[in-house]
Amino acid sequence: MPVGSIAKGKALVTGGGSGQTLPCAICHGATLKGLGEVPGIAGRPPIYTVRQLNDIQNGNRTGSLAELMKAVVAKLTIEDMVAIAAYLDPSSRRPAAAEFAPSRKYSLGFAEAAGHSRTRGGR
Ligand code: HEC
Repeated sequence: MPVGSIAKGKALVTGGGSGQTLPCAICHGATLKGLGEVPGIAGRPPIYTVRQLNDIQNGNRTGSLAELMKAVVAKLTIEDMVAIAAYLDPSSRRPAAAEFAPSRKYSLGFAEAAGHSRTRGGR
């Protein structure tokens, strides 16, 4: 796995990078284990994840639900996909589960309840 891949994957998955994509938790759920009809993406083998992202981007995977992923993959490079897949596979990084907690940016309610001030765009 290229150096820095997991950190890059994390930035893309949790924050959408710098506009390349959208934070995955919006649709895939805070734990990335799926939400309603949206499948889980955490813990899949990287090769599977890259394949799906690539298939959606190049139109090999279609359907009304796949349409929702079009904007997500539109600007991703294959390196971005590999980085995302590496981050999503717990066996390629430690610690695993804690990393899937929603970033504070997307859990303003909880952050406030816990007494933290509202931070926007924080890292
Ligand atoms: C706007 C909603 C939305 C966002 C944001 C989103 N997804 Fe998805 N994603 C979906 C839907 C809906 C599907 C199911 C597509 C289908 O059934 O063909 C899906 C499917 C997938 C799949 C295929 C899963 C499988 O088991 O076949 C992967 C991988 C995936 N998304 C990764 C991501 C990643 C990584 C991100 C963040 C960078 C992301 N998605 C952000 C809606 C979204």
